[in-house]
Amino acid sequence: MLVQDTSKLQEEITRLKKQKDVVILAHNYQIPGIQDVADFTGDSLGLSRQAAKVDQKTILFCGVHFMAETAAIISPNKKVLVPDLQAGCSLSDSITLGELKNWKKQNPNAITVGYVNTTAEIKSELDYCCTSSNAVNVVKAIPEKKDILFLPDMFLGSYVAKMTGRKNMHIWAGECHVHAGITPDDVTEKLNSMKEAEFLIHPECSCTTPMMYDLASGSYDDRKVSILSTEGMLNHAHDSATKNFVVATETGILYRMRQQNPGKTFLPASDKAECQYMKMNTLEKVYDSLVEDKYEVTVPKEIADKARLAIDRMLAIS
Ligand code: 13P
Ligand code: SF4
Repeated sequence: MLVQDTSKLQEEITRLKKQKDVVILAHNYQIPGIQDVADFTGDSLGLSRQAAKVDQKTILFCGVHFMAETAAIISPNKKVLVPDLQAGCSLSDSITLGELKNWKKQNPNAITVGYVNTTAEIKSELDYCCTSSNAVNVVKAIPEKKDILFLPDMFLGSYVAKMTGRKNMHIWAGECHVHAGITPDDVTEKLNSMKEAEFLIHPECSCTTPMMYDLASGSYDDRKVSILSTEGMLNHAHDSATKNFVVATETGILYRMRQQNPGKTFLPASDKAECQYMKMNTLEKVYDSLVEDKYEVTVPKEIADKARLAIDRMLAIS
């Protein structure tokens, strides 16, 4: 990679993606420079939908590995590239194929629901896939008598169980180290620093579950608290009449929030909430991917065909 200057690099990326007919999809946690050159920026569900819809034959996916795998499964005739193959996810690493098979064996009649933050192999063993924006509706779509194995995120799982009132959900004890690292103390400190602020929480946060009990018991005074996916947070921040927000998720989301709402103030619940996997992608690596057509993410056909059933069910439920 020879181009040094950021805006020159962005110009080159824009020229190359047009010349090579590549669409760039970027997750809301990507660095600002990548969000600026992306054709679409969004949450896991929105990007999965875009991957299925776009005309281009090549997708350059700026996010983490499982997201690119999902795009490859949905669009088997497209080439899916990632800037860095090492960009993984601690949450998707929190359950192995052997552990899932064993869990299913112990609960042979249960329906398995897995968060989209899972490997393609895990998805091939699921009945339903879900994202943070449709997890509640996916669980509601399952007959009430059926036991559910929900994986891998325990915070999202307990949030969904609470919202649906399901007593027969078994929840895997996995977590995302970034969201689990946002503590109730971080939150209290930030909320106290901005008295009029609304509070937006991603359902993967460790503060989610205690917050829901607090909310149900009428604490938090009159403060408005909303539990939302990353794209849900962006839509809410835009539509709300409130001017100040404390945001409990990865800090990358603040770039688009501030860009879309110049008159509003956004504070991260924790300044340390940064996903080092998401941040492995750089403009230099995006440029190199376009020049060298690397790194391609592929999923073996027999795994993709099984995983697609669970993903299609996810895409069908909003
Ligand atoms: P969203 O589905 O809300 O974009 O979240 C994805 C993710 O990786 C959260 O850490
Ligand atoms: Fe995975 Fe957490 Fe990073 Fe999201 S923020 S990609 S769940 S490690």
